[in-house]
Amino acid sequence: MFISHLLGNITCSIIKPDAVKKGYIIPILLHIYRYRFHLIALKMKKFTEKEYKTFYKEHQNKPFFMSLVRFMSSGPVVSMILKKKNAVKDFRTIIGHTDPKISKKGTIRNLYASSIESNAIHGSDNDENAIKECEFIFNHEEIFIDMKNHNL
Ligand code: RTP
Ligand code: MG
Repeated sequence: MFISHLLGNITCSIIKPDAVKKGYIIPILLHIYRYRFHLIALKMKKFTEKEYKTFYKEHQNKPFFMSLVRFMSSGPVVSMILKKKNAVKDFRTIIGHTDPKISKKGTIRNLYASSIESNAIHGSDNDENAIKECEFIFNHEEIFIDMKNHNL
């Protein structure tokens, strides 16, 4: 656990294939910037079904699991580690409800998602999972935690 000392101050986010395909990477990054999250790792990559089966293993018994795995591996995604006090909670507030039909106006999913599955963006659901997800996607050399300008 090489970033466990950041527990409570980071979240893992993924701009999902639907939003990447529609050209929403930059608007979403700008939205995140406006809410004062600090980017300490960033990667654009197409992950495999096998990788998403591990990443989303907590959902393995849900009816949408295989559809989710296929959707996520259908194209490149932009993964990030975002640093901020209370990052997990604050980030889930700005992305909005899983279902864009229910999400609040002005949230990322309200603005850029098209369905409960193609919902534009992922955000970790608790601090422990945030650490696990960040370490699943990034290795030590890809994380830059000592950058200036972090208001922690
Ligand atoms: P995420 O993990 O991606 O940030 O989303 P979340 O916490 O809001 O939702 P979660 O329950 O963790 O579900 C993970 C992702 O699975 C897809 N999903 N499809 N067809 C469905 O009923 C359904 N429900 C969930 C979504 O892509 C969701 O974000
Ligand atoms: Mg979730």
